[in-house]
Amino acid sequence: MTSDGARMSKAEEQTFSWSEISQHTSANSLWVVVRDKTSPGSPLRVYDVTNFQKTHPGGHLILLKYAGTECSRAFAAVGHSKYAIKRMSQYRIGIAEADNVEPRK
Ligand code: HEM
Repeated sequence: MTSDGARMSKAEEQTFSWSEISQHTSANSLWVVVRDKTSPGSPLRVYDVTNFQKTHPGGHLILLKYAGTECSRAFAAVGHSKYAIKRMSQYRIGIAEADNVEPRK
């Protein structure tokens, strides 16, 4: 564990604690967590969308609403295109530690 609550997994992917993730809820630092059903184990991926707020076609307010939370359900409900899902990878910063959180509705 480092002081910011993050550690590296075997695959050299950073794992973030929920105490860390839940702090990134402002326009200055905005993270969202979305489950990746296309990967083995369906990891909860963490995205830093701070620099994406202004250009997100769905607007910045919806990202702020879900900032610091797991929003897989809301993300899927929008019916994001394949293009959108492909674009997500550039904002990926790691995975969330525990897999037992209630998604925000
Ligand atoms: C890195 C994460 C995200 C990326 C790259 C992304 C990308 C996009 C793109 C490209 C669109 C245009 C429509 C499409 O191509 O599907 C879109 C629309 C939208 N997104 Fe996101 N999005 C992200 C996260 C989110 C999250 C977390 C929410 C929360 C629910 C959200 C809500 C919306 C909404 C409401 C629209 C507008 C849909 C419409 O106007 O019909 N997005 N997004």
